Amino acid sequence: EQDPRVHGIAAAIRVVPDFPKKGIMFRDITTLLLNPKAFRNAVDLFVERYLGKDITVVAVGWQTEKCSTFHHSALCLRKIIHGTLLDWIATMNHNYDLALFVGLVVFTLHPGRGIEARGLIFGPPIALAIGAKFIPLRKPKKLPGEVISEKYDLEYGSDCLEMHVGAVQPGDRALVVDDLIATGGTLCAAMNLLERAGANVVEFACVIELPELKGRDKLKGKPLHILVESR
Ligand code: PRP
Ligand code: ADE
Repeated sequence: EQDPRVHGIAAAIRVVPDFPKKGIMFRDITTLLLNPKAFRNAVDLFVERYLGKDITVVAVGWQTEKCSTFHHSALCLRKIIHGTLLDWIATMNHNYDLALFVGLVVFTLHPGRGIEARGLIFGPPIALAIGAKFIPLRKPKKLPGEVISEKYDLEYGSDCLEMHVGAVQPGDRALVVDDLIATGGTLCAAMNLLERAGANVVEFACVIELPELKGRDKLKGKPLHILVESR
């Protein structure tokens, strides 16, 4: 039976059609954050599930872009201008190479724009409430200490997550938190990083799942707990 708080959480998530590109139904959690009761309920539901379960680590992955190559630059550009110009160029030319080149130019002019971190919003309050340490998994070259990295494939191109060496101790019991699971690539990379460092990933927790994208299948059979299923 569904917890009565779930309905309010689901209702507070705005769906924006055709963002960032045509055909995508974007689940916008910023409207959940505008509703303190619903935001609090979302955090509480996770905390109630994990309190007393001997979780020692909460890790949060956020999707990243590495912009050292033409290809990666084009991925950054996609995000900066929501894909519109890039799609237009690709359509007009039937040639993605030109689009990749334009990506490099624009990214060089506007480094760092358009990169966000929605997963970071939910991890820290859960970690504090259950008394676990919090580990940010970050984009390349952001963490100052020694890191291990995990590259992973997206629809095209690849992304990369990094984690500080020493953040995880062998035997740590980790909960991986993000706002949303789509293809599962982000959570899979987070799991690989944690397991390489000797942690045991106990569960994944997301506010929203897009079940049609079958992201669960990438999680090597580990449990995924979600609050809202979105079709
Ligand atoms: C979103 C979301 C997840 C990821 C899920 O991040 O926050 O981290 O996509 O997708 P996946 O299951 O296919 O890996 P995105 O990079 O779109 O935006 P953000 O930078 O605002 O978090
Ligand atoms: N990340 C991947 N797919 C998404 C969607 N449909 N809405 C919000 N974030 C996403």
